[in-house]
Amino acid sequence: MIPPVPHIGSMAGYALADLSAPAGKRLVSLSQNESLRPPSPAVAEALARAATSPQLYPDPDWTVLREAIADRHEVTAANILCGNGSLDLIGCLARAYLDPGTAALAPAHAYPFFRTATQMTGARFDTASETGATVDVDALLAQVTPETRIVFVANPGNPTGTRISRAGLLRLREGLPGDVMLVIDEAYGEFADHLGERMFDLVERGDTVVLRTFSKAYGLAGMRVGWGLFPPAIAAETRKVMNPNNVALPGQMAAHAALLDHDYMRETCAQTAVLRDAFATRLRAAGYELHESFTNFALIRFASPEAAESANRALRTDGVFLRPQGGAGLPECLRATISVADDMDLAASLLEDWARNGGKR
Ligand SMILES: Cc1ncc(COP(=O)(O)O)c(C=O)c1O
Repeated sequence: MIPPVPHIGSMAGYALADLSAPAGKRLVSLSQNESLRPPSPAVAEALARAATSPQLYPDPDWTVLREAIADRHEVTAANILCGNGSLDLIGCLARAYLDPGTAALAPAHAYPFFRTATQMTGARFDTASETGATVDVDALLAQVTPETRIVFVANPGNPTGTRISRAGLLRLREGLPGDVMLVIDEAYGEFADHLGERMFDLVERGDTVVLRTFSKAYGLAGMRVGWGLFPPAIAAETRKVMNPNNVALPGQMAAHAALLDHDYMRETCAQTAVLRDAFATRLRAAGYELHESFTNFALIRFASPEAAESANRALRTDGVFLRPQGGAGLPECLRATISVADDMDLAASLLEDWARNGGKR
């Protein structure tokens, strides 16, 4: 047997969604926070064009894509890095800035990949308690140690769905030492953009990175395209550990086409919000507890981890897959991606049935 390096041998791998539908049932996957509809029709045309030159390497600088992102968000193209999904960028940041003896810090119910990326480097992963499944700035600041190099905050959060205000993030940044990087992961940012609380200006300080993705509101999860706005010095170090040619040509072209069809993306967000709020209202009427969500999913809280597990089993029998949240420190919760109306109706009906049959919300 060939042993891996010790910190890899002792870490748990990132838990992937289990999508094995029961025989004969249609799989209704509400487990990966994918978009409720395919991307803009312009994407199919872009993919057809990309299909004519697969013998060529993609642009390693994502030039066309990042200029379009820069235009859309009124930021500097040179400070944008694109990734093979934003996961890629999170991993690169961890590799460039963490090593054994250092630590990363995140809220207790943060996106589990922050832990995975940190542990891959041999660094320690610390957490700070949340209040009402919402990032608690004071608790985070209290957990900073001399070893802390990165603070990861997803806003809105996954799996919580909650968000903190721009004022809260500014207070967090002000309270962190200048040599601690703040990574604001806005994978669900488009679902909250209508609130007008942009964070890109914080990058100009030199110690903060803002990440976004095309996987959610733009409906391109299968294309694997994320991006981030980086201070120049952090971008330079991050590029050293990045796989060159990390975003395939179809991904770059698809993301570009999706970005240009801004109205289509906004309509996706609007449709999602209507279905999400109707789903939450219906479940609350059936006695369930849900936090307000600013994303394309809802977090449902049960009376106990056992109750959540029992509801999960019941829904899976009918092919409806929610995502258990033990990995994010919320074993009493299930997360439901907001999908098309029929699928949400089915999920809500099954949860109503489960409660009616004595299940404990
Ligand atoms: C908070 C958060 N960050 C990052 C990601 C990764 O997204 P991707 O790699 O598809 O861009 C996800 C995906 O679910 C997420 O929820």
